[in-house]
Amino acid sequence: PETGPLSIVVLGASGDLAKKKTFPALFHLYRQGFLPPDEVKIFGYARTKISDDELRNRIRSYLVNDKGASAEQVDDVSNFLQLIQYVSGSYDSEDGFRLLDKEISVHESLKKSVEGSSRRLFYLALPPSVYPSVCRMIKTCCMNKSDLGGWTRIIVEKPFGRDLQSAEQLSTQIGELFDEPQIYRIDHYLGKELVQNMLVLRFANRFFLPLWNRDNIDNVQIVFREDFGTEGRGGYFDQYGIIRDIIQNHLLQVFCLIAMEKPISLKPEHIRDEKVKVLESVLPITYDEVVLGQYEGYRDDPTVPDHSNTPTFATVILRIHNERWEGVPFILKAGKALNSRKAEIRVQFKDVPGDIFKCQKQGRNEFVIRLQPSEAIYMKFTVKKPGLEMSTVQSELDLSYGQRYQGVTIPEAYERLILDTIRGDQQHFVRRDELKASWEIFTPLLHKIDAGEFKSIPYKPGSRGPAEADELLERAGYVQTHGY
Ligand code: BG6
Repeated sequence: PETGPLSIVVLGASGDLAKKKTFPALFHLYRQGFLPPDEVKIFGYARTKISDDELRNRIRSYLVNDKGASAEQVDDVSNFLQLIQYVSGSYDSEDGFRLLDKEISVHESLKKSVEGSSRRLFYLALPPSVYPSVCRMIKTCCMNKSDLGGWTRIIVEKPFGRDLQSAEQLSTQIGELFDEPQIYRIDHYLGKELVQNMLVLRFANRFFLPLWNRDNIDNVQIVFREDFGTEGRGGYFDQYGIIRDIIQNHLLQVFCLIAMEKPISLKPEHIRDEKVKVLESVLPITYDEVVLGQYEGYRDDPTVPDHSNTPTFATVILRIHNERWEGVPFILKAGKALNSRKAEIRVQFKDVPGDIFKCQKQGRNEFVIRLQPSEAIYMKFTVKKPGLEMSTVQSELDLSYGQRYQGVTIPEAYERLILDTIRGDQQHFVRRDELKASWEIFTPLLHKIDAGEFKSIPYKPGSRGPAEADELLERAGYVQTHGY
């Protein structure tokens, strides 16, 4: 790994994302020795005029919960917070960024004895509306100036635009300032342990290889459920809706990994090439394969307009036009305020031909990857019911991570992705053409929804969502399996 003074700048340092995700992820990296104090300084940047200590105090409670923290953890927190310095300034004027650059340069000159060249990482924990101006300011005022090499990289968060046109516009604006290898578009689902496991499962296991196609697989579901509503984020959420918030990015990334062809190597560009290909093979969405919902009470949020039609739930079927997948529905489903919190992938196989056991009523073979909570991979299959009778029952081959990998801490998605950025590995980040292809899939549907031509069906909070979504699932061929 590279060495040299490393400056990590968190822009939007007093915002929600920074407090809840970015700083805790940096803290975990620090605790594991990935951010050595003799190289690293973390700069918080935002408009509010506060002191270093005020920022540290705001962050502290998000790092460990005070009750459970050991003395060692408390020490780690204090040492970590000492690495943080605050700089206040606006997002569209040079003064603040010049000051930031000065502070970074001070840090770099103090670390002159550290071998290696300077590295500058800018994390934009900000609304995308300010990306263009912030990127321009970084480019004008804050680039790494070392003669010895080193780098400047930026991390940007979704939403990258609202539709194809705005996303392309944003990409062009940023692309005029930074080269693609400097831009890390984060989709935190790509940092989740079991999402990262997908390619291994598919391509390192002999028994999946011949089965992973239209001859054997009947349908695939990629499901995201949350058992809470938009809680305090109604104003943001209402401008985007569940398709832009979850499906077009998180679920679609998972979809790529399930459906793509085998990359010729694990090089990030080879993997991303395959993702783009499968995205470009998706057929236009048919509107009778879409169900939208909105939970009752969503509009009670004062920041949500009274007549909002924004979906908080959606089921959308994607179909791929290629040799492997022709005819197989990929059912992407996401909802807020549902009956449980879960994200999982369910690959359902076709019925066994010539079934002599008459067992199909009990269900089909199913391969399930539970991303969260409690990571697990399991296979539903049919066995003889133990006992004197010859009858069958659905059972499970179960790899639950909590049991199998006791004592292993699964890293947080953000932690992994920030480390990847420091290491210069773009495999788990979204490339510009991938982003474009993903917006191409959803933009016609989104425009229809925005024009008020597609109604969201009301559903009760704490329910499974609109009944119409279950009907759509059944029409797509999904068969509910019954456990033991
Ligand atoms: C975010 C969405 O990207 O992902 C949120 O904006 C959602 O609405 C969150 O709650 C879910 O992430 P996770 O990791 O908790 O599944």
